Amino acid sequence: EKGGYDTFMEKEINEQPQAVGDTLLGRTDESGALSLDELRIPEEKLRQVDRITIVACGTAAYAGMVAKYAIEHWTRIPVEVALAHEFRYCDPIVDERTLVVSISQSGETMDTLMAVKHARDLGALTISICNTHGSTIPRESDAVLYTHAGPEIAVASTKAFLAQITACYVLGLYLAQLRGGVHADNAGQVMSELHEVPGKIDQLLHTMGRVREIARFMADTRSVLFLGRQVGFPVAMEGALKLKELAYIHAEGFAAGELKHGPIALIEPGQPVFIVVPGPDTPHGLHGKVVSNIQEIRARGARTLVIAEEGDEAVVPFADEVIRVPHTSPLLQPLLTVVPLQVFALELSTAKGLDVDQPRNLAKSVTVE
Ligand code: F6R
Repeated sequence: EKGGYDTFMEKEINEQPQAVGDTLLGRTDESGALSLDELRIPEEKLRQVDRITIVACGTAAYAGMVAKYAIEHWTRIPVEVALAHEFRYCDPIVDERTLVVSISQSGETMDTLMAVKHARDLGALTISICNTHGSTIPRESDAVLYTHAGPEIAVASTKAFLAQITACYVLGLYLAQLRGGVHADNAGQVMSELHEVPGKIDQLLHTMGRVREIARFMADTRSVLFLGRQVGFPVAMEGALKLKELAYIHAEGFAAGELKHGPIALIEPGQPVFIVVPGPDTPHGLHGKVVSNIQEIRARGARTLVIAEEGDEAVVPFADEVIRVPHTSPLLQPLLTVVPLQVFALELSTAKGLDVDQPRNLAKSVTVE
């Protein structure tokens, strides 16, 4: 049942090319335009949406944070990401023109379910992005966009995360197309780049030998920091979450720009820090800014584990290790950059002799509030 792998998590990490590919499948028509008939929401209603709130927990919420950057860029609709368990208690601003998008692998997370019900009571339009057919959250929503990652057994979410991000991109591009915004014409181009991602993940999965080695050397590490910027920020937090839950190591993800506002005080000689570097073609010179951050922490003795695109030579002088990912356009990068962080957490957990598939104190779906 583990398909020759030692753990479900390893199997599921290796199923990620297919999870992304299958989630893209059937979502475009012959002309290449996005078509989401499955939503069964009148287009008119979707055109009226003037605000989007994403509700989710844990890894699914990080998928939502990635989605915020992409959907706002493509549609110019303001997107807010709320942790589902906070949403009901913050007197949310929601009306008939608000689209509430829930993201849940299991479709049974009680916190997320209650947020969806609350949103519906307030009159919002609700769409569920979900991996489990017939589960509760899709049933309680106006519409569902399924992720096609296949069953996820390991407690730590991996392939569902990539499928969630993919489904969010599809939804964002669909809304952009529907509303004819500035980026509507680009939707086809982004879709064709997305179709190339599964092959790139596959390629990446074949180069994880060094990441595994680094993880094994770090079995005694007590703390690891993760930095990222823009869409790399939620990736940093996801990398930290994977390490906490699988290897029981203290880990924190920061926005790289926050460093000088406090966290840089944590840097002491030998502190391992992963840095998710934006591609050199990311707008607003973000690449150079993150390279400067690497330089700053290296000068203070940090051990820099750098995740950067192939061909990005600017990082080399400041990196103790460079982990390469294939090139893709900046907003799509999380589908690649998170993979080495998943493999790192898996391998470190294994090196510590822990139960990778069933970490202590955790359940696959959290059906209590
Ligand atoms: C982390 C993890 C959790 C879930 C969260 C939401 O690896 O698996 O953080 O992402 O509990 O679960 P779903 O997506 O089932 O609502």
